[in-house]
Amino acid sequence: MNSETFVELLENKKNLIDDVLPQKVEMLDAHSSLKEAMLYSILAGGKRLRPTLLLMTIEAFGEKVESGIDAACAVEMIHTYSLIHDDLPSMDDDDFRRGSPTNHKIYGEALAILAGDGLLTHAFRIISESTMLDSDTKMDLINRLSKAAGPEGMVDGQVADMEAEGKRLSLEALEAIHRKKTGALLGFSIYAGARIAGGSEEQQHHLTQFAHHLGLAFQIQDDILDVEGDEAKMGKPIGSDEQNNKSTYPHLLTLSGAKEQLMIEVAEAKKHLFEAGINHEWLEHFTDYMISRDH
Ligand code: IPE
Ligand code: IPE
Ligand code: MG
Ligand code: MG
Ligand code: MG
Repeated sequence: MNSETFVELLENKKNLIDDVLPQKVEMLDAHSSLKEAMLYSILAGGKRLRPTLLLMTIEAFGEKVESGIDAACAVEMIHTYSLIHDDLPSMDDDDFRRGSPTNHKIYGEALAILAGDGLLTHAFRIISESTMLDSDTKMDLINRLSKAAGPEGMVDGQVADMEAEGKRLSLEALEAIHRKKTGALLGFSIYAGARIAGGSEEQQHHLTQFAHHLGLAFQIQDDILDVEGDEAKMGKPIGSDEQNNKSTYPHLLTLSGAKEQLMIEVAEAKKHLFEAGINHEWLEHFTDYMISRDH
C-alpha cells in the first residue's frame, strides 16, 4: 500500500470520529453552559489517535469499523476530559491546548472541572447504550476502560507524574509512570478494537505488548516535542515539563538518548505487531505516523 492510501485511511477515520463525537454531546439534556464547555474541548481538534487506533485495529482483523464507533467516541471523551483537568492551574497550569485557550481560560475553573466530569461519565453511558455491541462485550469494555482510565490506570499515572516532580527517577520508574499515564488508554484502544473484532487470547497477548511499547514511544515523542517542538504547530506550550520540574525522557537520557530510546520502543512495538497474526500493514504505518508527528 502506498503512503497516500494510508493518509486517506487515516483521514476517513478522523472524519468519522469528528462527525459522530459532537453528536454524543449535543444529544444531552443538560445546561447549555455545560454542553458548550464540553463541546469546546471536543471541537477544539486533536489528532484523534486513540479512537483511530481502535478503529484501525478492528480493520486489521478484517472487520467493519462501524461496530467500534461508540467505543471510539468513549475513549476520545475520556482522553479529552483528562486534558482539560491536566491543564488546570492546580495541575500543569497550561493556557493553550489544541491551538486554543484551555477550557478553564474560557469557562473558568469550576465549569472546566465539571465539563471534564461530564465527559468522563458520559463515556461509560455511550458504551452501555451502544446498539453495535452485545452485552458481554459492553460489560467487558466498561470494565477495561474503567481500569485503564481509573485509579489503577491513567489517574494513578497522573498522581505518579505529579509526585515525581523535582525528583530524578530511574528509567524503570519513569517507564512505570508512562505505562499508566499514557499507555493505559492507548492499550485500551487496541484491546477494544481486538475484542470487538473477535481476536483470540494469543492475539490479544501480542497486541498488549505492542500497545505497551507504542505507548512508551508515544510519550517519549511527547517529551521530546516539549523540548524542541514548534509551539504553533503543536497548539500547546513547549517547555511546560521543564517549568514544572517534570521527569521526562530527555531530562533523564538527554535529547539524543531519548531519541535512541524512541527507536528501540518502536522496534519492539513492531516486533509484537508482526507476531499478532493480523493484517499489520496499516498499524505499522500508524506506528510510524504516531512517532513522526510534529504536533
Ligand atoms: C496529549 O495527547 C497528551 C498525552 C497523553 C501525551 P495527544 O497528543 O493525543 O493530544 P491530542 O488529542 O492530539 O490533542
Ligand atoms: C498528560 O500528560 C497525560 C494525561 C492527560 C493523562 P502531559 O501533561 O505530558 O500532556 P501534555 O504535554 O500536557 O499534552
Ligand atoms: Mg501533565
Ligand atoms: Mg500537561
Ligand atoms: Mg507532555
